[in-house]
Amino acid sequence: MNQALHGQVALVTGGSSGIGYGVALALAEAGASVAINYHSHGEEAEDLAGKIEQVGGQAIAIKADVSDEADIDAMFDSLIQHFGTVDIVVANSGLQKDAKFTDMTLADWNAVMNVNLTGQFMTAQRAVREFLRRGPRPVSKALGKIICMSSVHEIIPWAGHVNYAASKGGIQMMMKSLAQEVAPHRIRVNSIAPGAIKTPINKAAWDNPEALEKLLKLVPYGRIGEAEDIGHAAVWLASDDSDYVTGTTLFVDGGMTLYPGFADNG
Ligand code: BGC
Repeated sequence: MNQALHGQVALVTGGSSGIGYGVALALAEAGASVAINYHSHGEEAEDLAGKIEQVGGQAIAIKADVSDEADIDAMFDSLIQHFGTVDIVVANSGLQKDAKFTDMTLADWNAVMNVNLTGQFMTAQRAVREFLRRGPRPVSKALGKIICMSSVHEIIPWAGHVNYAASKGGIQMMMKSLAQEVAPHRIRVNSIAPGAIKTPINKAAWDNPEALEKLLKLVPYGRIGEAEDIGHAAVWLASDDSDYVTGTTLFVDGGMTLYPGFADNG
């Protein structure tokens, strides 16, 4: 078993379902102790923590709304109280509130921005403060690692999802600017940009054969992604194997960003 993250502590926001669940599990399989943050799926987060402990890992579930500053502070307090510190922070929580542009309410816009972008800002900020507070640890070459969960929609425009695409575009530049700022401290900041991954957020796009066929026209590699595809990428970005990698977005999308419409056209 690859124990690249042995002795390290990870926090995954939005770890109770979808991509976050897959990432939390993969980090635990690679030897990290994991704090699984959840907002409303407490039972799933506890189940995952139990599953990790059953195979000899360490895990806790922590409830917090990542768009709420007091919740973020309380989450980091309990994380540090429980595990002593944190080495890997995956700012993953995200949601969609899709609407035609002319119908999109300010509430839809704000909800998506507050969780997807401001939530990642606050999560990353507390992570950086903690890395600086506790100083180097022998478990990793870097002082700390942050992974922002972006999307192919940080570069692919998405009609009907203007709030979501704008939040992911924002993550791209937040991640890069932060990476530039903290690199001298040996803190690495990167993003993963998933394409179509089989999770509850996009169920309508894969849960019937017609929808799946339509979706797969956008994926040259010919299959929908699984949460573990993202988990494996997160393990690599969190490990010393990627020690010279910072400020990069790793697209894990089966080629969705390769302009598949041009394969036999243009
Ligand atoms: C969205 C999914 C979508 C995928 C590819 C993701 O960021 O959350 O709903 O299927 O991008 O378009």
